[in-house]
Amino acid sequence: MKLEDVKKIAVIGSGAMGNGIAQVCAQAGIKAVMVDIKQEFIDKGMATINKSLDTLVSKGKMTAEKKAEVIGNLSTSLNNAEAVKDVQVIIEAVPEIMSLKKTVCAEICAAAPADALFASNTSTMSISPRGPSMGVPGLGR
Ligand SMILES: NC(=O)c1ccc[n+]([C@@H]2O[C@H](COP(=O)([O-])OP(=O)(O)OC[C@H]3O[C@@H](n4cnc5c(N)ncnc54)[C@H](O)[C@@H]3O)[C@@H](O)[C@H]2O)c1
Repeated sequence: MKLEDVKKIAVIGSGAMGNGIAQVCAQAGIKAVMVDIKQEFIDKGMATINKSLDTLVSKGKMTAEKKAEVIGNLSTSLNNAEAVKDVQVIIEAVPEIMSLKKTVCAEICAAAPADALFASNTSTMSISPRGPSMGVPGLGR
């Protein structure tokens, strides 16, 4: 897959990492759907993005038109399976809990296109075949 093939990305988790990841994707011109388990978490993530973009605009580093374009590239969802069904790339940024990562990975892998790329923002967990892993199909369990 080439970078220009990436039209839409799903970011799972709208917390400290997820909303920043969604923002940079949207700034790069890629549609980004940001997912969480509660609307209040999504609202908080979107508020953080808005504040960050406002800071860039107030410092003259981004135009108001570009901000509107970035916001237009963002959407949200409360459903992991629904959110990943038409994306080329998925980045998970849920809390650092192995059982949760495995559950989310299983949901995503069952619903995403077969050729979608899956990435994890994990700080410490293995997604390689060596040792206990998140259970990405094709990798070690
Ligand atoms: N915070 C950091 O400085 C930092 C730095 C590097 C890596 N990381 C890693 O990034 C990942 C996310 O960390 P964070 O700090 O953003 O966590 P966070 O707690 O701020 O955000 C995680 C979000 O995921 C949501 N979530 C939980 N279960 C979910 C599910 N089933 N589906 C969708 N969303 C769900 C939570 O509601 C929360 O909003 C972790 O693996 C962490 O180790 C964090």
